[in-house]
Amino acid sequence: MDEDAGGRLPDRETVAPPESFVEGANVTDADLQEQFDREWPDCWARAGALLDWERPYRTVLGGEGDDREPPFGWFEGGRLNASHNCVDRHLDERKNQVAIKWEGRLGETQSYTYLDLHREVNEFAAGLRALGVEAGDVVTVYVPMIPELPIAMLACARLGAVHNVVFAGFSAEALADRMGRAESRYLLTCDGYYRRGAATNQKNRADNARISLDHDLEATVVVSRLGEELRLGEDQYGYAGLLATHSGATVDPVARAATDPLFLIYTSGTTGTPKAVTHTTGGYLAQVAWTARSVLDVEPGDTYWCSADIGWITGHSYIVYGPLALGTTTLLYEGTPDHPEKERVWEIIERNAVNVFYTAPTAIRSFMGWGEEYPDRQDLSSLRLLGTVGEPINPRAWEWYYEQIGGGECPIVDTWWQTETGAIAVSTLPGVDEMKPGSVGRPLPGIAADVVDADGEPLPPGEPGRLVLERPWPAMPASLADGDGWGPDPPGGEWRYVTGDEATVDGDGYVTLLGRIDDVINVAGQRFSTMELESRIVETEGVAEAAVIGGDDDTTGAAVYAYVSPERGHPTGDGLRARIDERIREAVGPMAVPEAVVFTPELPKTRSGKIMRRLLEDIANDEPLGDTSALRNPEVVGEIESVVREG
Ligand code: WT7
Repeated sequence: MDEDAGGRLPDRETVAPPESFVEGANVTDADLQEQFDREWPDCWARAGALLDWERPYRTVLGGEGDDREPPFGWFEGGRLNASHNCVDRHLDERKNQVAIKWEGRLGETQSYTYLDLHREVNEFAAGLRALGVEAGDVVTVYVPMIPELPIAMLACARLGAVHNVVFAGFSAEALADRMGRAESRYLLTCDGYYRRGAATNQKNRADNARISLDHDLEATVVVSRLGEELRLGEDQYGYAGLLATHSGATVDPVARAATDPLFLIYTSGTTGTPKAVTHTTGGYLAQVAWTARSVLDVEPGDTYWCSADIGWITGHSYIVYGPLALGTTTLLYEGTPDHPEKERVWEIIERNAVNVFYTAPTAIRSFMGWGEEYPDRQDLSSLRLLGTVGEPINPRAWEWYYEQIGGGECPIVDTWWQTETGAIAVSTLPGVDEMKPGSVGRPLPGIAADVVDADGEPLPPGEPGRLVLERPWPAMPASLADGDGWGPDPPGGEWRYVTGDEATVDGDGYVTLLGRIDDVINVAGQRFSTMELESRIVETEGVAEAAVIGGDDDTTGAAVYAYVSPERGHPTGDGLRARIDERIREAVGPMAVPEAVVFTPELPKTRSGKIMRRLLEDIANDEPLGDTSALRNPEVVGEIESVVREG
């Protein structure tokens, strides 16, 4: 890349927001940033105002701390119910508007109006209550992208119960782990579902998880997705039967404190085990609604499609809570983008006249690889705005998305956020800001993000450093608000939240993400802890040691590479690779199965015995190797290199 005389990267080319978009944009206020700065933290009352409160809050930002030191209490004193906000309050104006449009894997479609949604959420809430679910109980939801998933989330929210959605592709072991740690005694699952034509036995996995749990389950509810008769054991109930028993029942939404938990979700931290993140009812919902409106430009009456899975935070925030809080039609797609044809995604957009489409760079790069003939066959003129999330988007994919999908008339919002931030934190405001392909944009109004060095000092433009958040934000998790993960950085320094991402900021304040600093691999927007993967691989018979790193991958951004040293005398040709893959598939899920496994008699180590992951990364990514003299066993590097580069 070109560098100017000062050694800094030049500012990227900018793209002005298309005028046709700006005319109708939700936010066109050029000085919103300044207004928020001036009024902080009260500026966030604008987000709070998007919600219906059963009891108004006393202060926007309460808590005993100040604006830097926890505890933080967003919208303190306020009480509200998320299900009321996403369903009931829309009944006056949009009873007959479609709330959820479902596109099933076998080509089925189903529409739930707000009235239908209200009815089913109430009936399921009544059913859950009859099974014993009360406010504060954790209900685990382990189903694919079917309407019962958001309905279950909203039914839990209605009761004040905490949902714990576990991605349907996770293994029995991963499910048991997440239920065990949450002490969850209620489970919603299904009999099975179709993946590329074949039915998976989801119920079987759920039963296996139940058997391996240390605690008993009160009740399991099973959705019939395959349409066959359900085989139910003790304390197991069919979803349809449960609804029938509670046909027409209503449940008053249980008012929750703004700071009460709405749900928990697991993410890969740096600790090796998935970490539970708890999001709050008031602050989370307010910022999610606010960002869906100001960044994704969602309006009531829009048809909006976020192609993520509800099993991840993106689906929680921007398939379910944000769009439904705003009274939009949210599309739920169960299938894969290339089945039955590679034009599936564009066909869905045309058929449903989708206005806003939000997806991941991985998907965009796949679409690009398939070619424009597929989008070209469809009418995409309903689109008004495009979004991307999960990993950096390279300028070439950005241009393709902008021109081929948006026809040069839809702004792209590149949205940076995390499971921990709960809602979008850094992005352009599409009706206000210029876009810079490859760069996410400025921190949103009210968000204090900065790039700092190891001492916590802000860095000049272009210099890579750690992306940190200097002030609390409404959608922060309960634990951070209580000070767990929020503290002086470095020790003795300013109080802040360290995101774990590396970034640069340019002269205009635009942030460009470079990747993760901690040992987390971001494969197609899903975070895996290297430590967790390593400990699973080491559990495989015949493995002595393993190191996992993220290698570059054109499509998924990063791929899991494993370097494995077998136990002494253990042959590698006896299916060891297959057993490693199987172990990961079982313990974590198919998404984490390594792209490559390199067998080596030894892993490169420092004299203090630390595995040199950087070096392994450089080898995998074909980068020049630095000084290896500090290694205890420099000779293994040559061996590994020859396997990877020539083998
Ligand atoms: C990590 C968070 C938030 C939903 C998706 C995944 C990376 C996220 C971007 C972006 C570059 C991004 C970061 C972040 N990331 N959005 N627009 N550009 N990188 O949530 O699993 O919590 O992962 O995804 O590394 O820390 P998550």
